[in-house]
Amino acid sequence: MTAGGDLAALVTRAVQEADAAGSVDAVRQIETDLLGKRGELARAQRSLGSLEPEARRSAGQEIQLTRARIEEVLERRRSVLAGAERAERLAGERLDLTEILDVQYRGRVHIVQRTRDELEDVFVGMGFFVAEGPEIETDWYNFEALNMPIAHPARGMWDTFYLELGDPETVVLRTHTSPVQIRLLQQQEPPLYAVMPGRCYRHDTPDARHTPIFHQIEGLVVDRGISFADLAGTIETFTTAYFGPDIHARLRPAYFPFTEPSAEYEITCTICKGAGCRTCSQTGWVELGGAGMVDPAVFAAVGLDAEEWSGFAFGFGIDRCAQMRHEIPDMRVLIENDVRVLRQL
Ligand code: FA5
Repeated sequence: MTAGGDLAALVTRAVQEADAAGSVDAVRQIETDLLGKRGELARAQRSLGSLEPEARRSAGQEIQLTRARIEEVLERRRSVLAGAERAERLAGERLDLTEILDVQYRGRVHIVQRTRDELEDVFVGMGFFVAEGPEIETDWYNFEALNMPIAHPARGMWDTFYLELGDPETVVLRTHTSPVQIRLLQQQEPPLYAVMPGRCYRHDTPDARHTPIFHQIEGLVVDRGISFADLAGTIETFTTAYFGPDIHARLRPAYFPFTEPSAEYEITCTICKGAGCRTCSQTGWVELGGAGMVDPAVFAAVGLDAEEWSGFAFGFGIDRCAQMRHEIPDMRVLIENDVRVLRQL
């Protein structure tokens, strides 16, 4: 084959290989093979030395022409492939700002609020009405009217946060919902059957069953001839309605200055089913609230005749009810706002 024939074959080879190339990198490889220092064309160029000057010149021009043709072929193919690669990369990196994410990211009512709603529903179904009172209370409503004068030792059960308002230590973040009993009795004549849900604050160290901010639902019944049996029956009806018939509840003697007699209301720990675990401090029982017959001193504080009226009161922890109903080993998850947890409740 003549040198010209070799060169024509090189162009044909460039066209065929370029057509078959699937990427810019493959085109670069063809370029190296044909036009590189150790490529086919360089080899042809080296052979020029053995030619006569006239023949060398025309062969040299042939080689330059061939190089230009091959470059053109490769450049055309390179630009097609580069365009396709760029389009593919852009499609991969495309960010659609109008994209609507999965529906499971929609917000939902927090489990504590849902529990509060459910508890209200249970009591409304039993004939109670719902009332509310302020979270910032005076010492008189939070303690004194509830039969805990200043320096009464029982105040120690409810270590709280005092506000710098009015005289020192006269305004507190309420430690329980019991002051709403007093407000209601001041506003309304008995008979009354009410529940009073809301937020409470205590200087409590957070643990599996305590947080410094939590919620209670207070209950108050005042009528003629109310007895402890009414209280026990109400609590039993509530337990079955909210937790179902399989949960065991018990009342244990306790002390509260504003009820006499008083009781603690406990249910079988739903985490360990009574066997004992970290959540229930190995007792198998979890306290949900306190209860008792309204103390005559409370009736006296609001000017009601304890000979004519009698009643009972209770205060249950809403967060604690949610914890037991949904079998949450540690209450602190309720205030950590980790959506991965809250989405499951
Ligand atoms: C009281 O607060 C009384 N006011 C209850 C009461 C009302 C008794 C009416 C008699 C008549 P106690 O401190 O035990 O009682 O709290 C009642 C419930 O609130 C507890 O059983 C628990 O369920 C909840 N609770 C109390 N402290 C916390 C806390 N730090 N974190 C979460 N829940 C709490």
